[in-house]
Amino acid sequence: MSPQEASIYDVIRRRRDVRAEFTGDLVDDATLLRILDAAHRAPSVGNSQPWDFVVVRDPATLARFAAHVAEKRIEFRDSLPPERARTFEPIKIEGITESGTGIVVTHDDSRGGPQILGRATVPETGLYSTVLAIQNLWLAATAEGVGVGWVSFYDAPFLTDLIELPAGIRPVAWLCVGPVHEFQHTPDLERFGWRDRRPLEDAIHWERY
Ligand SMILES: Cc1cc2nc3c(=O)[nH]c(=O)nc-3n(C[C@H](O)[C@H](O)[C@H](O)COP(=O)(O)O)c2cc1C
Repeated sequence: MSPQEASIYDVIRRRRDVRAEFTGDLVDDATLLRILDAAHRAPSVGNSQPWDFVVVRDPATLARFAAHVAEKRIEFRDSLPPERARTFEPIKIEGITESGTGIVVTHDDSRGGPQILGRATVPETGLYSTVLAIQNLWLAATAEGVGVGWVSFYDAPFLTDLIELPAGIRPVAWLCVGPVHEFQHTPDLERFGWRDRRPLEDAIHWERY
């Protein structure tokens, strides 16, 4: 295995969804731009590059989003059967204020016009492309020792209003981004008994599903 291969595999293994390990320091702008450059190099259907990145650092905006997410967390907890609610209760699901930086990744399905090479038969390929930018961002951040936590406990119209997205631009993720003390070895949801990872053998199918 070449050194380059070893390092990408190492980063993939180290990557975690981070909620509790943010140091409270801000990621510096040079590092942030390297991470966004990696995101922007993602593959995209028809080279449409349908993503944008809204960097949010205003404490008032972070606090408003955190309050909204806290409400959504309670709604979800209250929808659970009692035993699952007890398992869920200690699980932290965001680090919005602690990370100090939110990156909202947005998707513009109209980017590149109506004839996107490769999207005619699978319309979701546009959204897949934006998600690949998120994965690039996540891995680049991990390589930099910067944690990323994906927050999806929000109503899209709330976030759309909060950061003034124009009509037709869809928020895909709020990412909490900041330096961390450490990366956990085991995903939080596994550590807290919510759900384990499946063995690889269960995910691989040969010739037929
Ligand atoms: C689309 C998506 C949405 C997610 N939303 C949340 C979320 O709202 N809150 C949270 O704590 N983690 C969220 N996660 C993180 C997952 O819980 C996490 O990736 C999973 O448990 C595996 O852990 P790992 O990323 O550390 O390997 C999300 C991940 C993805 C891919």
